[in-house]
Amino acid sequence: MTPSSRFLTLKMLENIDFESSRILIELGPGNGVFTEKIIEKLHPEAKLLVFELNEQFYHALTQKFKDPRVILIHDSAENINEYLQQNGMNHADAVISSLPLANFPIELQEKILGSAAECLGENGKYIQFQYSLMSKKNLDKVFGDIKITFTPLNFPPAFIYTCQRNMTS
Ligand SMILES: C[S@@+](CC[C@H](N)C(=O)[O-])C[C@H]1O[C@@H](n2cnc3c(N)ncnc32)[C@H](O)[C@@H]1O
Repeated sequence: MTPSSRFLTLKMLENIDFESSRILIELGPGNGVFTEKIIEKLHPEAKLLVFELNEQFYHALTQKFKDPRVILIHDSAENINEYLQQNGMNHADAVISSLPLANFPIELQEKILGSAAECLGENGKYIQFQYSLMSKKNLDKVFGDIKITFTPLNFPPAFIYTCQRNMTS
């Protein structure tokens, strides 16, 4: 796995209002390349819930990030709402995902995207990068409003989806 570049990191985070966001969620941090930048920008009163399924990555993250605003969770991304509830939180302002969605079985994609959409408050954003447009139709089913940008300055070049829920549907 090649860690994401600083160009992709900047693109992933550029549409998040860190000044007003109090609850952020990261899915699939791997070695924590995005996590590090999110923590730099995180409001002093905000919390970041980080879901990593791989045991080795999870363990390394616990050694690397000791910030009290960060809650590291060794569980799968579809369980977001369980952990929000456990931590007395109602909704998230943004979900930042580097999950390889297109490689997942359709049922898992639907569960993860459904949970992410459910946890977002009004104006909440789901931000996902992918190396192809294969997951677009699945994102379309869940989020009413999707903007796609592209960064060639990453290896491999990546698409960034910034999605918002249509609250009336
Ligand atoms: C492509 S890596 C991204 C790493 C890093 N964020 C980056 O951009 O360089 C995807 C990560 O998602 C994790 N992952 C895969 N399935 C997951 C799931 N269901 N829940 C949480 N994390 C998962 C993997 O263990 C891996 O660390």
